[in-house]
Amino acid sequence: MSETAKRNAAEAALTLVEPGMVLGLGTGSTAAIFVRLLAEKVKAGLDIVGTPTSEATDRLAKELGIRIVDPNELTRIDLTIDGADEFDPQLRLIKGGGAALLREKIIADASTRMAVITDPSKEVAQLGRFPLPIEINPFAAELTRRQIDITAEMLGMTQATSSWRMATGESRLRTDGGHMILDLNCVAIPDANELAAALDVIPGVVEHGLFIGYADIVIIGEETGARTIERGDET
Ligand code: A5P
Repeated sequence: MSETAKRNAAEAALTLVEPGMVLGLGTGSTAAIFVRLLAEKVKAGLDIVGTPTSEATDRLAKELGIRIVDPNELTRIDLTIDGADEFDPQLRLIKGGGAALLREKIIADASTRMAVITDPSKEVAQLGRFPLPIEINPFAAELTRRQIDITAEMLGMTQATSSWRMATGESRLRTDGGHMILDLNCVAIPDANELAAALDVIPGVVEHGLFIGYADIVIIGEETGARTIERGDET
């Protein structure tokens, strides 16, 4: 994704921000560009507060002078702006490429609206080319992995393979919440709703990166501007 496309998506998302809003601040490179643009508006007098979806975004926003509120203190989040790894024509998303999917989903779920900032490379007819990130409790993680592999096979994804997300070096990555990330390379997900429902009932799965019913608007940055798809417009 070119920096220009990312910036155009982030700039278009800024037009959704109104004074007095409580904003959920997403994670990833596109969300970081949004946070930087937002900080410029704040410096120029825009009155908003933000709540972050990761430690990285928390640090960035604070460094840039955006007022950050602990989500525990909030009764409402007006709008969350976040990136995505894939979106389909029904505005279903794969998220978690940056390992922040649990916090991202908690904040998105508590938000009145969610705007997703992306680029054309993330637009797919069918989800699943991007390996699905699944956040796993470390206890009996290999057992949970086997349950997931069996589930994928039972749902017809016979080519699916899973792998632990690694940190630098030999150790497995740990999320901000101390969990592990299993990347399930599905190749294609024939029924995303069915897979989400099946993952939801595996006890060792803390959360998965299928965001179904969350996005209200997807903003697709391009080299010369941005286009949007809103819930209700989708095919
Ligand atoms: C973070 O966990 C992810 O959900 C990101 O929102 C997603 O990976 C998009 O990141 P980029 O904007 O860097 O592509």
